[in-house]
Amino acid sequence: MAQLAEQPIANQIASLETELTHQSPQKILERALGLFDNIAISFSGAEDVVLIDMAHRLNKPFKVFSLDTGRLHPETYQFIDRVRKHYSIAIDIMYPDAAQVEALVREKGLFSFYEDGHKECCDIRKVAPLRRKLTTLDAWITGQRQDQNPATRGKVPIVQVDSAFSTEGKQLVKFNPLSYWTSLDVWMYIRSYEVPYNPLHERGFISIGCEPCTRPVLPNQHEREGRWWWEDATKKECGLHSINQNP
Ligand code: ADX
Ligand code: SF4
Repeated sequence: MAQLAEQPIANQIASLETELTHQSPQKILERALGLFDNIAISFSGAEDVVLIDMAHRLNKPFKVFSLDTGRLHPETYQFIDRVRKHYSIAIDIMYPDAAQVEALVREKGLFSFYEDGHKECCDIRKVAPLRRKLTTLDAWITGQRQDQNPATRGKVPIVQVDSAFSTEGKQLVKFNPLSYWTSLDVWMYIRSYEVPYNPLHERGFISIGCEPCTRPVLPNQHEREGRWWWEDATKKECGLHSINQNP
């Protein structure tokens, strides 16, 4: 953050939050990409392609990564590749550690999350690869929205220090440009700009994660009810955004 480097990080983040709170996601993204060279968009769902589309229209270089848990829907793999080709971008795909996956599956089988909760599997398949990626970055950009899960995301700011993934000597900054957007805003953008989307959305899926842990929702059911449906709403976070629960 060259322009603000003389101040302590907490003050910089607080003044950035004040500056950006009433700005459009496009302006927030532009500011984030202007402040950091070593920054990347974390991509998996509809919100993230909106961010990719916005970044593409800014005509500035940007990096994208995605976490392949090995348990995504076939449609999601095709969607990721479609986005890669549509925007002519490289997507860094991060994979879990093979030995850790093998040990988990050998000990507990392929569906341990239904009995033991999702944390153990998510830690191996998502959080560890994310941590590995984030050690190479100074800042990251997510598609989190506050109304995705009032229980865990109701206070997601535009910008924050990601203490969950900061390392000694490096404070990682996290931008959530869509924090104040609703699902309606996201889908109006997707339709207006003909942004590619996961075809599973045409089959009742709203929030899409791994295949065994995601199901479609009924009309008027909250989008998050389709994720880890056997668990309580306050537990429906996989650890990527643990700062939301332990700020
Ligand atoms: S999750 O933590 O419950 O899986 P969710 O699906 O709501 O997260 O997505 C919120 C944001 O987390 C996305 O907008 C994206 O930035 C990031 N994210 C989630 N899953 C992945 C993934 N597999 N790869 C990269 N980023 C992801
Ligand atoms: Fe494992 Fe389910 Fe978490 Fe995917 S969402 S990493 S399959 S527990």
